[in-house]
Amino acid sequence: MPERSATLQAFLASMHATIQARTHASDPAALAAGRIFAALEESGSSNPRQPKQVPACAYLEDALLAATQAGRSGTEHASALADLAPNLAWYTRPGSDDVDERFATGHANATIIGTGGLEECPNVRIGVSLLAPDVHYPDHRHPPEEVYVPLSPGAWRQDDGPWREPGLDGIVYNPPNILHAMRSASAPLLATWCLWGE
Ligand SMILES: [Fe+2]
Repeated sequence: MPERSATLQAFLASMHATIQARTHASDPAALAAGRIFAALEESGSSNPRQPKQVPACAYLEDALLAATQAGRSGTEHASALADLAPNLAWYTRPGSDDVDERFATGHANATIIGTGGLEECPNVRIGVSLLAPDVHYPDHRHPPEEVYVPLSPGAWRQDDGPWREPGLDGIVYNPPNILHAMRSASAPLLATWCLWGE
């Protein structure tokens, strides 16, 4: 079995534990997480990346510090993310220059598990997103269902429904193919996410 670093294993374990702590066992988010983390019990092929930063990463340190000091259910997960962060290759969403400059320079994503991430695993993608203050991450959709783990204040929307703030002990679950968006207010938005799709 290929080796998984202790840092990555601690991150994955903390993510699953945080989702479990924030959900009931029968919630769709808990069931999706169960499938995702069961698939990760065996490590996939490791794929060390050349770490890379984009402009919005200027907010990463403050966002991580706030998340690790929040004293809420995500504290341990935020610490594990802080340990992993120096290894990540951050990128902006393809085509984001066409949206507007505030979005193009105000967001950063990094893949942790999946194509372009630190480890490959069929059917699973795990990553992290960061928004600078007052940035709107536009509507998007994808076939896999998705669970976001908020580690900061921020708001999420599905279809043309209301903006909702899950809070620092909340979870966002996006069913397959649903249109969804997120936005930050005065603080940076930091959230990890995982997707399951066969
Ligand atoms: Fe998404």
